[in-house]
Amino acid sequence: MKRSEINEIMKNGLNFIEKEMKFLLPPFAKWSPDDWHQKGEESVEIIDQQLGWDITDFGSENFSEVGLLLFTIRNGSFEELKKINGKIYAEKAMIVQEGQITPIHFHYQKMEDIINRGGGELVIQLWNSTVDECLDLDSDVIVSVDSVKNKVKAGGTITLKPGESVCLPQRLYHKFWGKKGTGTVFVGEVSRVNDDYVDNHFYEKVGRFAEIEEDVEPLHLLYGDYSNYYKCK
Ligand SMILES: [Fe+2]
Repeated sequence: MKRSEINEIMKNGLNFIEKEMKFLLPPFAKWSPDDWHQKGEESVEIIDQQLGWDITDFGSENFSEVGLLLFTIRNGSFEELKKINGKIYAEKAMIVQEGQITPIHFHYQKMEDIINRGGGELVIQLWNSTVDECLDLDSDVIVSVDSVKNKVKAGGTITLKPGESVCLPQRLYHKFWGKKGTGTVFVGEVSRVNDDYVDNHFYEKVGRFAEIEEDVEPLHLLYGDYSNYYKCK
């Protein structure tokens, strides 16, 4: 992806989340690259816990068809998971466009509640996984939709309207997109600790992080950019 495209997606995303959805992001969402040059040790948690912007086309080079905008608001770490009183939770904000696919994946340790916070409708397709990490094409999937058990055929879908949520347990394959004709979806995620470097298993090989062509300066940094701008690591 070109940086100019990422900047545009970020600017529009910030506008959608804060102005249209009235959900305000923390201050570091708007720090500039220059701001990041000035930050010291006090801000290290943002880097260590992979907080902030994440815009990816999953290597598709077609963001509007296969892609996702995420902003990690809070997170723990795998180290914290080992402690009896550790920070073991995470929260994200995401934007899913109509028809824009997040490819089939599951998480090894992260259980996640996916929440439709507003806008259009979110379609989620589900499969159980087999022990060798294939799609189980036979068994029904049981998921809790707003604390009510739902049974879905293998590869079947559920649709979340604004306000609705689903709890996705570990190793449950899922793929999602915005339902055509309903508008852009503002999605929330409340989960166990998130680690995008080790915890995601995609059914088909994808590039989890976009390759970036630096044609202009970043508007705000993606979390993959921190190592180039933050001096304390
Ligand atoms: Fe997921």
